[in-house]
Amino acid sequence: MIIRQYNDQDISSLERLAKQVVDDGTVFPFEDEQGVLDYWLSPGARTFVVDWQNQVVGTFVIKPNLPDRCSHIANAGYMVDEARRGQGIGRTMSVRSLEIARELGFRAMQFNIVVATNLSAIRLWEELGFVRIGQIPKAFRHPSKGLVAVWIMHREL
Ligand SMILES: CC(C)(COP(=O)(O)OP(=O)(O)OC[C@H]1O[C@@H](n2cnc3c(N)ncnc32)[C@H](O)[C@@H]1OP(=O)(O)O)[C@@H](O)C(=O)NCCC(=O)NCCS
Repeated sequence: MIIRQYNDQDISSLERLAKQVVDDGTVFPFEDEQGVLDYWLSPGARTFVVDWQNQVVGTFVIKPNLPDRCSHIANAGYMVDEARRGQGIGRTMSVRSLEIARELGFRAMQFNIVVATNLSAIRLWEELGFVRIGQIPKAFRHPSKGLVAVWIMHREL
């Protein structure tokens, strides 16, 4: 498994992973793939992919959570190919993303929208030292569960 920087040739892989999370609709706010792509490839973002046997099986993005006086806090997003989940890719990406964020000079990482029903992600983030610093009630329109809460999660680097 190789973690490397995203390049333009990865766009179709990124679109494939974006389509999976949009079709699922339970973890990210975006309702179309373009929203995911805009977030993943926004100016100032550092985007990475996980290559396994010449196939992109995961991706993550790191960027400042807010500008200027808050820009020492990173924000990040992660997607693993549905067919490859539960095999350690998410954990490997997350650990590496924390190292990269530290190398980039960030002092902490914050997730703004961890949907309360996304138990695998919450469990992984807590295992990596993130704490739930607050809950926003009824913040996410879940496709089958209605309005559900989201957690803001944070850890220092
Ligand atoms: C969250 C995500 C990145 C995890 O990636 P993954 O490759 O499946 O995770 P891993 O196989 O590395 O598992 C890491 C940990 O996640 C948790 N986890 C993974 N699958 C789980 C499941 N089905 N149920 C509960 N916990 C689970 C466990 O704590 C696991 O650790 P363990 O293997 O020691 O038990 C992946 O599920 C994903 O892409 N989800 C859709 C996008 C998303 O939710 N992104 C995060 C939004 S905040």
